[in-house]
Amino acid sequence: MKMITAIVKHTRFDVVRRALMEVGVQGMTTNDVRGFGRQKGFREVYRGTEYEVRFLPKVKIEIAVPDEKLDAVIKAIEESARTGEVGDGKIFVTELQQCIRIRTAERGEEAI
Ligand SMILES: Nc1ncnc2c1ncn2[C@@H]1O[C@H](COP(=O)(O)OP(=O)(O)OP(=O)(O)O)[C@@H](O)[C@H]1O
Ligand SMILES: [Mg+2]
Repeated sequence: MKMITAIVKHTRFDVVRRALMEVGVQGMTTNDVRGFGRQKGFREVYRGTEYEVRFLPKVKIEIAVPDEKLDAVIKAIEESARTGEVGDGKIFVTELQQCIRIRTAERGEEAI
């Protein structure tokens, strides 16, 4: 099992959500977050002047997936979130040790 954490633009979120439904994810958690990447929240650096970082609003999406769904889910996010402009976001993948459906006490991929 893997936990996918994707940071995407607000303007792409609806398309990303639809792409994720199409690929058959069972659930997801989203959150409004603020962050910066390598432009530090600015499109340009002017004449080498250093600016403080600026946190920009993004949407964080967390999805637990069985291993066999990982590639399809990553592809769905990548293709739906991409505009080609800076700030399109990132996808982080981590090992998910356990998942428990509280109602039934199911464990592991069954519980996803
Ligand atoms: N190394 C990182 N660790 C944690 N969060 C990150 C990291 N890089 C980016 N993010 C998150 O993703 C958001 C979008 O990042 P962004 O797409 O600008 O990355 P980038 O590396 O600057 O790529 P690009 O050059 O395409 O803009 C950030 O606002 C931040 O929330
Ligand atoms: Mg950036």
